[in-house]
Amino acid sequence: MSAPDPVENYGNTPRHIAVIMDGNGRWAKQRGLPRVAGHRQGVEIIKSMVQTCGQRGIPYLTLFAFSRENWKRPSTEVTLLLELLASTLENELLGLHEHRIRLRIIGDLSRFPQRLQQAITDADELTRNNKALNLTIAINYGGKWDLLEACKSIVELVEQGEIPSASITPELIESQLCTHELPEPDFFIRTGGEQRISNFLLWQLAYTELYFTHIYWPDFNQACFDKALQTFANRQRRFGKTSAQIKQLE
Ligand code: IPE
Ligand code: IPE
Ligand code: MG
Repeated sequence: MSAPDPVENYGNTPRHIAVIMDGNGRWAKQRGLPRVAGHRQGVEIIKSMVQTCGQRGIPYLTLFAFSRENWKRPSTEVTLLLELLASTLENELLGLHEHRIRLRIIGDLSRFPQRLQQAITDADELTRNNKALNLTIAINYGGKWDLLEACKSIVELVEQGEIPSASITPELIESQLCTHELPEPDFFIRTGGEQRISNFLLWQLAYTELYFTHIYWPDFNQACFDKALQTFANRQRRFGKTSAQIKQLE
């Protein structure tokens, strides 16, 4: 499947939302709970967001669940997080499939425990032909890693004589990224108060509308999501043009 055509203006609703779900640990700490309790509650918020995307007709949702930098956390937290990912995938897979959700996992999967790798393969195979929401989960993902891998594949194509170096275009680079089947994100949400990209979709966020909120991810309920969507609806996306040019098009 090739990437859908880029859409400059998909109306007031974002077509693709990318989310950094941050603040789970602080949410738990606030309540005197272990950090993993925040991650568990975070899974409930994912379910509610998936539901809302279905209701609002948002066809692509991409969530950052584990970064390449997250391996630096204490090993007990890393183990618990990976176990939670595997059990959530196993427990939710049939429900997602029933709702015709296409689940993709992006990132460097080679380093994961066998159980998680199996859960990922099963999810991909089962939901491959689903046409409702495209739910993408980024694990052991990093924007720099994604670009580096794309560079390596392109160099290989050139070295093998399959393409001349003159035909390296932005579209070719995009075709080699993990997100090649997805349109560019229209809207980026980061919860938890930090105002940074943390090595998420570096290339893909080039023209995305950014939204930062102090609310911790486990508290990011439907009302918070609706408020974010309202903010998006009030943004004017210009893609380099002037405001007057955009108004003319409307
Ligand atoms: C985000 O919450 C979840 C992951 C990075 C896996 P954090 O675990 O980063 O929570 P805080 O930022 O420490 O509160
Ligand atoms: C970003 O959150 C990664 C995920 C949500 C998976 P972090 O909590 O790891 O980000 P930094 O380290 O504060 O930038
Ligand atoms: Mg954090």
